[in-house]
Amino acid sequence: MGVLLQLLASLGACLAAYGISKGLRLIYDELTSPLRQLPGPKSSSFIYGNFKEIRAEGDSTAQERWVQEYGSTFKFRGFFGTTRLYTTDLKALNHIIVHTDIYQKPEATRYNISRIVGSGVLVVEGDKHKQQRKVMNPAFGPSQIRELTDIFIAKSLQLRDIWAADNAEHGGTSRVEILSWLSRTTLDIIGLAGFNYSFDALNENHEMNELNAAFATLFHAGTRRARDDGPVKIAQQTMSRIGNQLLRESKASIRDKSEWKTRDLLSLLVRSNMDTDLPPHQRMSDQDVLDQVPTFLVAGHETTSTGTTWALFALAQEKAIQDRLREELLAVDTDTPTMDELNALPYLDMVVRETMRLHAPVPTSMREAVRDDIIPLSKPFTDRKGVVHDTIKVRKGQALHIPIVVVNREKSIWGEDAMEFNPERWKSIPQAAGTIPGVWGNMLTFLGGPRACIGYRFSLVEMKALLFTLLRAFEFELAVPAKDIIKKSTIVQRPVLATDPDAGNQMPMLIRPVTRS
Ligand code: HEM
Ligand SMILES: *[C@@H]1O[C@H](CO)[C@@H](O)[C@H](O)[C@H]1NC(C)=O
Ligand SMILES: *[C@@H]1O[C@H](CO)[C@@H](O)[C@H](O)[C@H]1NC(C)=O
Repeated sequence: MGVLLQLLASLGACLAAYGISKGLRLIYDELTSPLRQLPGPKSSSFIYGNFKEIRAEGDSTAQERWVQEYGSTFKFRGFFGTTRLYTTDLKALNHIIVHTDIYQKPEATRYNISRIVGSGVLVVEGDKHKQQRKVMNPAFGPSQIRELTDIFIAKSLQLRDIWAADNAEHGGTSRVEILSWLSRTTLDIIGLAGFNYSFDALNENHEMNELNAAFATLFHAGTRRARDDGPVKIAQQTMSRIGNQLLRESKASIRDKSEWKTRDLLSLLVRSNMDTDLPPHQRMSDQDVLDQVPTFLVAGHETTSTGTTWALFALAQEKAIQDRLREELLAVDTDTPTMDELNALPYLDMVVRETMRLHAPVPTSMREAVRDDIIPLSKPFTDRKGVVHDTIKVRKGQALHIPIVVVNREKSIWGEDAMEFNPERWKSIPQAAGTIPGVWGNMLTFLGGPRACIGYRFSLVEMKALLFTLLRAFEFELAVPAKDIIKKSTIVQRPVLATDPDAGNQMPMLIRPVTRS
């Protein structure tokens, strides 16, 4: 007994000493930080730092104000006053995005995501990440997406028919909450195109099916501080059982090479993992492959439904642009275009680009330096002592912010109308936009470098299929004043009503059938 107490006491002392030394280390780091002379906003909360303003002003207005006031490179405060580096400098961002060996996802973010999705490509770092991307990249190529386009179209048509029936029932115009419908549609799409699994979420009488329910439970647990209690355990078991079944089916479907009919992402990935050119040590384990199932769900579902929702939001406010786009789409004489036919529509392409620029569904990302580094700059900055710097020194552990949507909307790059929705700007983009280090479309929406979004081609064709089908069938109008729609950011930036934020994410619209002359 005495021994146990002694042990506990010394354990307690150890923990206290650890806590204190950790705290002192933090203070020491702050006092000697190479960033201490950087300008930046005053912390507004002891615990939350400036995160309060960032959260309160969902639509990046706080960050845009800081850039105005402090220039392209400054610092702000994170939890407990820790320094965060903020830069919109394109050379610096390029350096950060390209050097994935130095700039990685913060430990806490990775822990949070891995609780939901396991160790999928979204959370692994270093060699493991390289290995997974190498095996997975081929599944996301243009010719693979071409083969999935009929799924995007079929699901878009199913949604069209549901809305058309609702229209008919209401004698013409009906009010629909488009975000939740688009979310069901993209869930069905990622199920079928991702792993040949039918969520059937668009089915009116659907009960939430097993995988969807399991995923929802895990997602809930991952974003809250829930322990691995009963429901979570059961959800994990369900997820793993269904995942294993999908993996078995994928393997079975490709065992006979002449029967390679399956074209879902999981099967393609299994196939690429079995490629005889791949050295055995570079193959992914079954568990690694399984972890990609919830990863595709997290990364590919709400992002695309939100993007499509913001496109329709922009078009609902700009009647002339909506009409012009519809005119282009109605000139196509099939309801079931191929990927190449969709990509050949110039105005649709410009509308999608402009939506992705102005309403990037993932507005920011975070990184942490895993070792000391010097970041090059295209524009020198002046610190609070008046000293001019043409590089930024960062220390191991330094957290930094990747301001996706702020760069997408910078007036110094895009001109005075940067905040306006103007698809025409894509006819000839400003030279400055050419140096934005994004994987797609001169914007940071899908990030860039080795950790760029693997699914960007998938989501672009998916959004085009949805817009093509829905705009040919309906006219869209906001059901509430535009200023009542505000953005609320968790990871994906979704709409809520300013007048009723507690009602949750929504985008209410009035839709009516298009009358063809
Ligand atoms: C409009 C739709 C989408 C947007 C805006 C988007 C945006 C992004 C962004 C910003 C990242 C980088 C996150 C970070 O490192 O901080 C990312 C990564 C990723 N995205 Fe997407 N995404 C979209 C659709 C999709 C789809 C449809 C899929 C899959 C089918 C997908 C799969 C992934 C995966 C697996 C990663 C992790 C890549 C890695 O770390 O190597 N995304 N996406
Ligand atoms: C991780 O999740 C917790 C809740 O479990 C949340 O409070 C925290 O902000 C999250 N941290 C990050 C870095 O996402
Ligand atoms: C799904 O599986 C069925 C039966 O094996 C197959 O015919 C179909 O092509 C598959 N779909 C996809 C998208 O792989």
